[in-house]
Amino acid sequence: MISLNINDKNYHLEIEEDMPLLWVIREHIQLTGTKFSCGIGECGACTVHIDGEAMPSCQITAKEAEGRKITTIEGLADNNPVRLAWIEDEVPQCGYCHSGQIMRAVSFLAENPKPTDEDIDVEMSGNTCRCGTYQRIRRAIHSASEKMEKGGKS
Ligand code: FES
Ligand code: FES
Repeated sequence: MISLNINDKNYHLEIEEDMPLLWVIREHIQLTGTKFSCGIGECGACTVHIDGEAMPSCQITAKEAEGRKITTIEGLADNNPVRLAWIEDEVPQCGYCHSGQIMRAVSFLAENPKPTDEDIDVEMSGNTCRCGTYQRIRRAIHSASEKMEKGGKS
């Protein structure tokens, strides 16, 4: 039995301890906003927050995630400044990479609320976008940063 806290809900699951957290989230909890792509920790499509830190859920086992606070894209508030900036700036193209991009951007802005272009490029480099939306991602992060400064919260 594995017990997980995901988006402030507790789940008790009869699953293999070494099952990747990504499969637990998608197949057992049915939260399909978190995406599978490379499966080897290289693309960032599966990014979730573990205790507030952005991490690739394909690289964490269910056992390792036990006792920690897991947040997926579904657990992000509707009025989160990053979510709002992504919508307003129409960042996604196909959209596949963007739940991971958003989760990475949220934890990044919590650490660095006024990033430079260079900071953004370095931090976001682990999240691949095959559609090449990098300029829009950068713009939306700046715009989320401005929203946070005006009183929103990441
Ligand atoms: S699917 Fe996890 S990093 Fe690519
Ligand atoms: S929008 Fe298509 S992979 Fe990023």
